[in-house]
Formats: sequence, C-alpha cells, structure tokens
Amino acid sequence: MRQAGRYLPEYRKLRSGVSFLEMCRDVERAVAATLQPIDLLGVEAAILFSDIFVPVTGMGVELDFRPGPVVAHPVRSLDAIRALRVPDPVESVPYVFEILRRLREELASREIPLLGFAGAPFTLAAYLVEGSGSKSFSVMKRMLYSEPRLLSELLELLTEMTVGYLRAQVDAGAEAVQLFDTWAGLLDREAYRRFVLPTHESIAKRLDRPEAPLVLYVNDGAHVLDLMVESGADMLSIDWRCEMGEAARLAGRRASLQGNLDPCALAAPPDEIERRVRAIAAAARPARGHVLNLGHGCLPDTPVEGVRAFVAAAKRLGEPS
Ligand code: CP3
Repeated sequence: MRQAGRYLPEYRKLRSGVSFLEMCRDVERAVAATLQPIDLLGVEAAILFSDIFVPVTGMGVELDFRPGPVVAHPVRSLDAIRALRVPDPVESVPYVFEILRRLREELASREIPLLGFAGAPFTLAAYLVEGSGSKSFSVMKRMLYSEPRLLSELLELLTEMTVGYLRAQVDAGAEAVQLFDTWAGLLDREAYRRFVLPTHESIAKRLDRPEAPLVLYVNDGAHVLDLMVESGADMLSIDWRCEMGEAARLAGRRASLQGNLDPCALAAPPDEIERRVRAIAAAARPARGHVLNLGHGCLPDTPVEGVRAFVAAAKRLGEPS
C-alpha cells in the first residue's frame, strides 16, 4: 500500500520544488522517500517509491500528475494501441532499478524487506483509455462492451510490459512484488473472468521468480475473492471492505493474506485502532499466513498519529490484550 505521501510533512518537504515524476526519477530523493516511513513510523517493510505509471512513460505515452495521472492522448483506437512500445524496462526507466539496488544496500543491515510493485494491466488500461481517474470509468467500460477485442489487445500489451518490468525489479533486489488492480473491482464476475483473471494468471505464471512472492491487490474486490485465489498469486492483499475471515476461508492453503484496516480508521482514537487491529489478526488466524496492513493506501488527510498507533498496535499483537 502507499505508505509515503502527502500526509507526511517530511515527504512534503522532500517533494517541494519538484514535480512528482521528477521525484520518481531522482534516485536520491526516491531512496529518501522510501525510507521515511521506516524511520519515522517504524513500519517493518519498505515499498519502492515510484508510481504504477512510471513504466508507462517508457511505452511512448505522454502523461502528467495533477495530482492523479492524466494522459495527454487517451488510447482509444487500434492505431493508438499499435503505436505503444513494449520497451526493455532497464533501458527505458533505468532509475527504478538503480533506486532498488540502492535500497537493498541501505536496508540489508536493518533487516527490512524490500517490495517492488506494478500496476495491473486492467488498471493501467482503465487510465489509458479514460485519460484520467474517474468515478465509473464509463469510457473504458464502453470500450469493454462495444469493442472487447480492442481492450483485450491493449491488456495483452500491458501484460507483456508488466511481466518484464516485475522480473527486472526482482533481478534488481525486490524481495516480493505487489500487483495493484485498483479498478478491477468495477467489473462483474463475468467481465472480470474474461478481462482481468487471465492477466493475473499470466503474470503469476510467467514471472517465474520463486524466491520473490507475488502479492495481488484488487480494490473493492469482495465479490471476486475466489477468482483472486484462482490467479495463482502467493499472497492476496485484501481490500478494507472484505471480511478477513471469509478471505481466509476462500484462500485456504493456496494463498497467504495481507490487510486490511480501512485507512480512514486511522482517524480513530488509539484504543479503537488497537481493537480493530486485534480483530483483523484474530480473523486472519486460520489463514496460511498474514501480513498486517491497511486495506488501501494512506490518504493525504491521514493523521500521522493514527499511523503510529497502528504500527504500535501491530507490534503488540504477540502480547495479551
Ligand atoms: O508508499 C509509497 O510511496 C509507494 C509508492 C506508490 C505510489 N503510488 C506513490 C505515489 C504506490 C505503490 C502507488 C500505487 C498507485 N498509484 C496506485 C495503486 C494503488 C492504489 O492507491 O489504489 C494507483 C491507482 C496510483 C495512481 C496515482 N498516483 C494516483 C491516483 C495519485 C494521486 C492521488 C494521491 O493520493 O495523491 C498518484 C500520486 C502518488 N503516487 C503520490 C504518491 C506518494 C502522491 C504524489 C504527490 O503529489 O506527491
């Protein structure tokens, strides 16, 4: 989940004077932003500071952040899709791998694991077709129903790009990689089975890096939890709306779980945060494994004190309440 960001005054200071994409390309600043939540909040894993759109800049797409991603020329035709390149990631976005190598050096002595990540093909396609974020992504959904082959072609291209990008991250030192499908939950089960599941299956199969587990997050995906299990991902990151106990039952021995406190619950008093953390951990007990996390990323108005209370409650989990 997004752990760095605008809710941290130290992040805003580091980010001042540069654009978000410049910050993603600046190795020193990106390393510093990755380490901030470790040093300031005490979280027990580091996630690469970057964005799901960074590798897309290497495909020949012009985009900017205002503050979310905005695509200069939305991709809505066969010609536009065929104009996209699947570049060698190490050549097109070399700084991502430089940042990962530097982070592994920094983190080795602290025994903190390093996570890489990518946007899932469907979520990337949603922004590319729509042109920006949207409540219903109706332009993308119109393509899905009226020109399904066009969307499938775009998804295949993005799947190809994502496999190469995640492999290169593992080769540069990522010890696990997380795939973020923020918008796949907009689909019903039939459309999810046709357009989303094959992309996850293909990435899980072709990543072929047994030393680095694949974590799959689907936002608003309570209705597709069983299909997330089908993907072959090693761990499922559960959205805050899902019931952890139900996820544990569906995943069985096939996948471990991660999650899933509502990020807005970080506004609650510390004892209420602790109560919720304990309830999540208890519900996850039957799971093959569980990593305590939020059920979506920190929002810009997240109180830092709430994040601290969450980390403290997590670290007390082994103790009696
Ligand atoms: O903790 C981290 O820093 C991890 C790196 C990370 C970022 N984005 C940095 C970021 C990760 C893992 C992401 C994932 C991401 N980005 C997703 C998938 C997960 C999710 O949140 O559902 C999506 C959909 C995006 C696209 C995106 N990037 C949006 C919609 C926004 C604007 C909204 C916002 O909260 O600011 C961004 C910008 C962004 N990505 C910021 C950060 C730290 C804020 C940038 C800034 O203005 O400084």
